[in-house]
Amino acid sequence: MIEAQGLTKTYGGKTAVYNLSFTVQPGVITGFVGPNGAGKSTTMRMILGLDEPTGGTVTVGGHPYRRLPNAPRQVGALLDAKAVHGGRSARNHLRCVAQLSGIPQRRVDEVLDVVGLREVAGRRSKGFSLGMGQRLGIAGALLGDPQILLFDEPVNGLDPEGILWIRNLMKKLASEGRTIFVSSHLMSEMAVTADHLIVIGRGQLMADMSVRDFINTHSASYARVRVPDGEQAAREKLSAALTEQGAHVQPEDDGALRVGGMPLPRISDLAHDAGIRLWELSPHEASLEEAYMRMTQGAVDYRSTADHRAGLQQAGPVPPQGYAAPGPGYAPPMGAPGMPPAGPGVPQPGPGVPGMPPPGVQPGYAPPPPQGYAPPPPPAAPQAPAGAAAPAPREGETRR
Ligand SMILES: Nc1ncnc2c1ncn2[C@@H]1O[C@H](COP(=O)(O)OP(=O)(O)OP(=O)(O)O)[C@@H](O)[C@H]1O
Ligand SMILES: [Mg+2]
Repeated sequence: MIEAQGLTKTYGGKTAVYNLSFTVQPGVITGFVGPNGAGKSTTMRMILGLDEPTGGTVTVGGHPYRRLPNAPRQVGALLDAKAVHGGRSARNHLRCVAQLSGIPQRRVDEVLDVVGLREVAGRRSKGFSLGMGQRLGIAGALLGDPQILLFDEPVNGLDPEGILWIRNLMKKLASEGRTIFVSSHLMSEMAVTADHLIVIGRGQLMADMSVRDFINTHSASYARVRVPDGEQAAREKLSAALTEQGAHVQPEDDGALRVGGMPLPRISDLAHDAGIRLWELSPHEASLEEAYMRMTQGAVDYRSTADHRAGLQQAGPVPPQGYAAPGPGYAPPMGAPGMPPAGPGVPQPGPGVPGMPPPGVQPGYAPPPPQGYAPPPPPAAPQAPAGAAAPAPREGETRR
């Protein structure tokens, strides 16, 4: 089990993670999703003791990672599959990791079999394809046969066969009672892989619920209604009648109407009463991907300028009934669609304003004091988890 309480991380003036509390349970796959820059990798690094929280605590199996007895046997992680010595063969790389972590050498061939790299185990890893590299990283994570596994974007760049393989492997590991925490920004992938979801945006918790609940709460059904082509007056009359009876009506690109919040028979009756013929009346389910996009829209940091032209940055139509607002504690950034514009007297969060909360945190925020967190004793250098190919030091951090 992984438990985070009020986890916060700031880098200089940048708040990467703010007041994050969640629990990752054993026996299920917990998906950790959020847009680019949301703070997923930062959170994982804090869990693994590679970054020190600015506030709050996180424990793995009841202990902070750095105080975990025999950590490489308890926790395995894939953070960055490319962080291996390319001149070493796959087998030698794993042998080194095993030796550093006190894991018997026979385990190396076992995990090479599990990930399907036995045939190429003698080849230098710098010649490996992306998928082979991911498999090697996963082999490293599995070396210590740990009960707790963290995977940061494990399916990035993989072909469909590789994605399916990782998905099935994670399911098998979870079914053995292990704790599986996997990050992704691919909601469609998480929908078929994870049992539970933790969604973050700009470092803050937006949702923490089972995938089933997420689908029930966030994917709304709606109807598409289309009058015969060219009957503009009928379309407007129908739209007015539906709106008057409480439906949410939005125009679709092809001239149809998207109607939320009203059952199909009622739409049909209203059209009949108004003497309007229909060419289409069909039920639709908004996809989980769409629900996730709506939920995280205000929390996307990096976006192409082409998105603006394509209208991807606009507020979008009024959500059909059933769409829920983002989770507690989350507020869209000031000036975002539907939010008041940032006033001149309101300090704006962001880089260059040290100590300010991330965009999205309400004014009046004060960083909470660290609760119960005691920094680990400095001399005891933490051991990276087995296979957590130590990421290169990042800006503002020194390699420990
Ligand atoms: N060492 C660092 N120094 C300064 N800023 C950092 C550092 N590490 C992360 N950040 C910032 O913290 C924020 C969160 O980054 P993080 O890598 O955790 O996001 P992510 O959710 O993993 O994104 P992605 O989906 O792109 O992998 C980003 O704005 C990033 O620039
Ligand atoms: Mg990341």
